[in-house]
Amino acid sequence: MTETSTHSGSPSLPMQGVPQPKRDEVLNLPRVHISTHPVLAHKMTALRDKNTQPPEFYRLVKEIGTLLAYEATISLALEPAAIETPMEPMRSQRLAGGIGVTPILRAGLGMAEAFREVIPDVQIWHLGLRRDEDTLQAIEYYNRLPHKSDLQVCYAVDPMLATGGSAIDAINILKRLGIPRLSYVGIIAAPYGLLKLSRTHPDIDIYIAALDESLNDRGFILPGLGDAGDRQFGTF
Ligand code: PRP
Repeated sequence: MTETSTHSGSPSLPMQGVPQPKRDEVLNLPRVHISTHPVLAHKMTALRDKNTQPPEFYRLVKEIGTLLAYEATISLALEPAAIETPMEPMRSQRLAGGIGVTPILRAGLGMAEAFREVIPDVQIWHLGLRRDEDTLQAIEYYNRLPHKSDLQVCYAVDPMLATGGSAIDAINILKRLGIPRLSYVGIIAAPYGLLKLSRTHPDIDIYIAALDESLNDRGFILPGLGDAGDRQFGTF
């Protein structure tokens, strides 16, 4: 990554000197759900470990994504469904309306697969956002969202919430489609990005597996897990 220059000509990094909230300050934000599931905490340890290789890392992203999908779908709307069991007719229930998942490429791909395992007929809307490492601004490079939607809810999924720029842009793009409910589901978040996303989009639910300590001067999450895209796809 190249360093940018300040007015004085000395090199600076994008998060250098930027004030960041502490972890305890963002623990109780409205509509923010930080998982307390022990199995998830156990899997996070393997995910973060630098010795975990890409095939195992990708498998863990999917397993963690499945557990998060369970948590994030807890309040989905149901509608009545009349069926017959082998024994007798009954009034049962099925999910009301379509469910969409928007993986923020690349790193969100493993999580989208996880949602698909929980809800096989989920619609997957790919959105490519790449973070410029000098400015930390998200740049849109791919968009396969439909022009109109019949979804009851869409989940934007991405393992990493760092400065929050990518998540905020993804929700802005999804909001233009008029979907009644939007949620963000991530694996790890930095307090800075979590607060920014929650303040910018107070009308969405945010689900994460773990809240980390801070961002370093380059905008990487600490203690973090490195680059979730590179670690899933083996591009180091
Ligand atoms: C990473 C990550 C998020 C984003 C988080 O993606 O997967 O999408 O950065 O940073 P932010 O909260 O500061 O926006 P990256 O741009 O490296 O692309 P990749 O998924 O292709 O690796």
